[in-house]
Amino acid sequence: MLYRLLPLLVKLRTVSPGLYYLVIRLAKRFMGASLGVYPRVMGNELAAVKAVLESSQWNMAYGRGLAHERLEHEFADSVGSKYAIAVASGGVALQMSMRALGLKPGDETVVQVDTCSATALAVMNAGVTPIFADVSAETFMLDFDDVRRRIGPSSKALIATHMWGNPEDMAAARALANERGLKLIEDACLGLGAVVGGRPAGSWGDVGVFSFGCIKPIQTGEGGMIVTNDEGLARELRSLRHWGDRAIEFGVRDTTTLAWNGRMSELIAAVAREQLKGYPKHLAELRNAVEDFRGEIASYAGLSLCLGSGDAIASSAFTQVVLKLDETQLGAKKADLLARFAVSGVPAWQANFELINSLTFFKQGGWRDWILRGDIERVADNYASAFPNAEKLYQSNGFGFGKPNFLSSGNFRNMISVLNSAIENGRKS
Ligand SMILES: Cc1ncc(COP(=O)(O)O)c(C=O)c1O
Repeated sequence: MLYRLLPLLVKLRTVSPGLYYLVIRLAKRFMGASLGVYPRVMGNELAAVKAVLESSQWNMAYGRGLAHERLEHEFADSVGSKYAIAVASGGVALQMSMRALGLKPGDETVVQVDTCSATALAVMNAGVTPIFADVSAETFMLDFDDVRRRIGPSSKALIATHMWGNPEDMAAARALANERGLKLIEDACLGLGAVVGGRPAGSWGDVGVFSFGCIKPIQTGEGGMIVTNDEGLARELRSLRHWGDRAIEFGVRDTTTLAWNGRMSELIAAVAREQLKGYPKHLAELRNAVEDFRGEIASYAGLSLCLGSGDAIASSAFTQVVLKLDETQLGAKKADLLARFAVSGVPAWQANFELINSLTFFKQGGWRDWILRGDIERVADNYASAFPNAEKLYQSNGFGFGKPNFLSSGNFRNMISVLNSAIENGRKS
């Protein structure tokens, strides 16, 4: 069976990386779908890139019918928002969103402590101060009581994240943002295709941001998108991605604010359009496999699927399939399970990211040089405080299975058999 080669491939990656990448390239090219590899070509990406290369317009411009414009329309439709603004990455999308929403140095944005560090860096690169909040032990998404405690006089925005594609409770996020006068930024970088309260992820915030980078729902190498229903905000964002040039969006040649080159290349836009076309089918297959998986693990007390604030398989984008773990009930330790998955070549990882306040820049005080104004001691207290649920999630009560496990029957069976034997072994030791 092909999946039996996985441990060998893991070894090959260490012994001979060159040969490993050659094997992966050939396998992807000739057996990609049956091996369940991801990312994968989902449409006519090669032809779409070729068409751009054969044209004279490789970068974003404001002519008619270019790939990024088409992508923006298609993306906005797919998310149910009026406007979409194609940008260079999810991180730059977050930075530009904060600037467009009027946040200034000294303002604070509350964000969950165990999201990707890119988010905290984006907040700081926009001149804004990230304040961290804990997650719920139940949903692994924001703990809104803790968010409430962390909001201070300088808080101006809340970032709600669809972590690993599971839906955040956007009605609760919206209610809290309205109550405390915060802008709501919906980080859907991992959540394209998730559904919250009957609406697509990304459509709830003042802005919704998406990433097309590594391990994201659709992938283009790098890339991102911002969606909004506010026409003024959309124009401001288009200006911000283009050095703040007002000529294109506002008819006045001027720079009125600090801005970026946040543009998306036409080559990337062409790939994104094809990925977006193929995504619904891909997501439907993934959800079917997760449904089967839920049946496979039903007999294990102490191991269950975590669907965030949602309760249906159809509400998650499963960028990673998150599992809730009770080590005592299951009789096996998370660390042992992850070690077994690693040697058996079963893609698996944490159910959250390293706590951001534990990363060197935040732990050792490097951040102090970059907080332009504001209450440094309040910020320092926040970074030194405890986030017990996120910590426990990282240490013991959750993990995630990567998508490739669900994208071929061989990988799926391998994952189940390694999981079963890892649990058996864990119980014996
Ligand atoms: C939740 C989340 N937000 C934002 C980002 C940043 O996206 P990008 O890598 O495209 O800058 C990431 C990247 O992994 C992410 O996981």
